[in-house]
Amino acid sequence: MNILFIGDVVGSPGRKMVQEYLPKLKNKFRPHLTIVNGENAASGKGITEKIYKQMLEWGAQVITMGNHTWDKKEVFDFIDHAKYMIRPANFPENNPGKGIVYININGTEVAVINLQGRTFLPAIEDPFKKAEQLVHEARKRTPFIFVDFHAEATSEKQALGWYLDGKVSAVVGTHTHVQTADERILTKGTAYITDVGMTGPYDGILGVQKEIILRRFLTNLPARFNIDEKGRNQLNAVFVTLDKETGLATDVKRISITPDRPFLD
Ligand SMILES: [Fe+2]
Repeated sequence: MNILFIGDVVGSPGRKMVQEYLPKLKNKFRPHLTIVNGENAASGKGITEKIYKQMLEWGAQVITMGNHTWDKKEVFDFIDHAKYMIRPANFPENNPGKGIVYININGTEVAVINLQGRTFLPAIEDPFKKAEQLVHEARKRTPFIFVDFHAEATSEKQALGWYLDGKVSAVVGTHTHVQTADERILTKGTAYITDVGMTGPYDGILGVQKEIILRRFLTNLPARFNIDEKGRNQLNAVFVTLDKETGLATDVKRISITPDRPFLD
């Protein structure tokens, strides 16, 4: 079982990159399952139903979210019908949507779980406790369990990786938008990377026009964050290969397509 995961898609530049490169990546890597983090897909904040459907058309099978889940009001109208969209499972109990989805891949079930960190992010339920509960449930059905941990702090991401080592197929970090070079297989077999990196503008600051962020640092005045829509773009992802019996990782690869590192067939 091979899984491709594309990191935080930011606005229309990110969506364009998914549309253009997902077919090429599928051709090259032949993933059985493709997961995309879409929490920044609509102008950097949240997602719309149209974008959710587009991403599925372009080849994504599961969409994960994060701290911007509720930013587009229309999300409340469709999240409960969006079968393959998940938001952090440790959001408060009564929130709409769900934090785990099971998808059938040629007769094999894969569980995809979305969690959010609490360090430098809103105080929500304990991601470790929630992970333990969901993984316990999921393991009754399948050893193929993929976790997108949307979190700010490297320490919290590493901690969850080690906490779930040997119990899940992969723990990949999202949210900080810069790909980390620490991909590895942990000692009990779980693939891990602190952050997959973002998909969208290459010359901005975390996807936002650099002039806006610079002004903010230089003047401390509030500013509207606009996505850098006219510049060059990038796509960041990871590809994990899993043992067909145990569901544990046998390989993890970083993928980074940028103007400096163009895609090679
Ligand atoms: Fe985020």
